[in-house]
Amino acid sequence: MSIVVYPGSFDPVTVGHMDLIRRAAGLFDQLIVGVLVNSEKKTPLFSLEERVIMLRDACKDLPNVSVESFDGLLIDFVRAKGSNTIIRGLRELMDFEMELQIAQVNRVVSGGIETLFLPTDPSYSDVSSSVVREYARYQVALPEFVPENVLDTMIKKGIVKSAKQED
Ligand code: PNS
Repeated sequence: MSIVVYPGSFDPVTVGHMDLIRRAAGLFDQLIVGVLVNSEKKTPLFSLEERVIMLRDACKDLPNVSVESFDGLLIDFVRAKGSNTIIRGLRELMDFEMELQIAQVNRVVSGGIETLFLPTDPSYSDVSSSVVREYARYQVALPEFVPENVLDTMIKKGIVKSAKQED
């Protein structure tokens, strides 16, 4: 059985992530979304639990997709899941420069775990969690950037104003 791991911070999951999950889930028997417990570089907008709940909800209609959190090295998580394949999306050249190096190191250090890249659908090339977080700092929602359940959560938590209030 082919198992692929799609890792990330998912703070929060975006429509770009969801497009990649759907497409990659069509290429493998099983896709495991790996949510990084703590990213040292960023102050998260959502707790790990919230990120996992929102992802699980967004993926509920995808039968071969599961969502789990992981701490520590990605390659250890991939191995523990019985996989040897990581998938990452590429939006632009800058992504590739960073991702290439990480993929190379991960492969060498793990002794063979491969990283595959899927190009982002052009309609999602501007979509990123960091832009969603930045707008959220000013209480502005970006409904076209996030799945509906994420927008609902952001409104319920009072992170952003509802579309109605903005009108
Ligand atoms: O969504 P992100 O923040 O771009 O995802 C980055 C992620 C989670 C793929 C990366 O930070 C990661 O793999 N972290 C786990 C720790 C690790 O394995 N580090 C070595 C490779 S960077």
